[in-house]
Amino acid sequence: MTDNPAFEEINEAKANMDHIYDQSDPRAYFRELKKLGYAIPGAAKPIFQKLISHRRRRQNDTVHVLDLGCSYGVNAALLKYDLSIGDLYEHWGQEKLADATPEEVVEYDRHFFTDLDESENIEVIGLDVSENAVAFAEEAGLLDDGLAFNLEIEPLPAPVEEELAPIDLVMSTGCIGYVTEKSFDRLLPAITHGRQPWIANFVLRMFPFDAIEETLSDWDYVTEKLDGQTFVQREFASAEEQQQVVDQLEEKGIDVIGKETDGHLLAEFYLSRPIKDAAEVPIEGLFAT
Ligand SMILES: C[S@@+](CC[C@H](N)C(=O)[O-])C[C@H]1O[C@@H](n2cnc3c(N)ncnc32)[C@H](O)[C@@H]1O
Repeated sequence: MTDNPAFEEINEAKANMDHIYDQSDPRAYFRELKKLGYAIPGAAKPIFQKLISHRRRRQNDTVHVLDLGCSYGVNAALLKYDLSIGDLYEHWGQEKLADATPEEVVEYDRHFFTDLDESENIEVIGLDVSENAVAFAEEAGLLDDGLAFNLEIEPLPAPVEEELAPIDLVMSTGCIGYVTEKSFDRLLPAITHGRQPWIANFVLRMFPFDAIEETLSDWDYVTEKLDGQTFVQREFASAEEQQQVVDQLEEKGIDVIGKETDGHLLAEFYLSRPIKDAAEVPIEGLFAT
């Protein structure tokens, strides 16, 4: 799903999950990813919550979030409601939904999420190339707006640019690698003439972030990585996948012992902020309390 040859090669080491990304509802996505202990949205939740609270301090108002590679609205569900990733696996794996039609799942979910108290005053716009997943997330009420575009190959339409002006925080989990600096290049004009959002990406260690960092620096953004911390994305799908990923990381000089050798794909956290914001509080300071 990426046009970047360098990322394309790296992606070949990973098990291909494309078939579960664009279904009419999230049941297959959660069924398949549960087998692999897909965990990164849950690991990211407290980090995103912290960033949302920092953004709220500035404006004391609804925080506007753009979730890149939003899929079925996974991060929106976790951040809007008092739900864990385990709750989502349970919810979409329920016996009573097993034989439901996708329309029935949407209907069920619309009521389910409407009846939950929102724990965070946020609005989430989701962008993903998978049209069905985005449509589901909108219809179930998880996304306030859904954008089904592939910014790797197409520009943002002008009306969408306006819609993105209020964004305070851009976030992503499991998306960099599919999305490259090309998507950021197309997003940045739309998101930087308004509130100058912070940009928060969880990135598998196999994907270099330097090209995206460079693109962001052209827009006066500074990128910092949360040092010394890795986040579990998921288990390896096979011994072969593990070996290929380990080989790739070792070729890059990344130490995998006690890390990927223990059986999990690991992500790191990158935060990009306007120069002035980064100078005021370094990344560690944001998560100190
Ligand atoms: C591993 S899933 C992560 C989904 C979600 N963020 C999560 O953590 O559960 C990767 C997502 O990236 C999306 N994706 C792939 N190529 C993309 C592109 N060019 N632009 C936007 N999204 C893309 C896929 O459709 C899929 O929903």
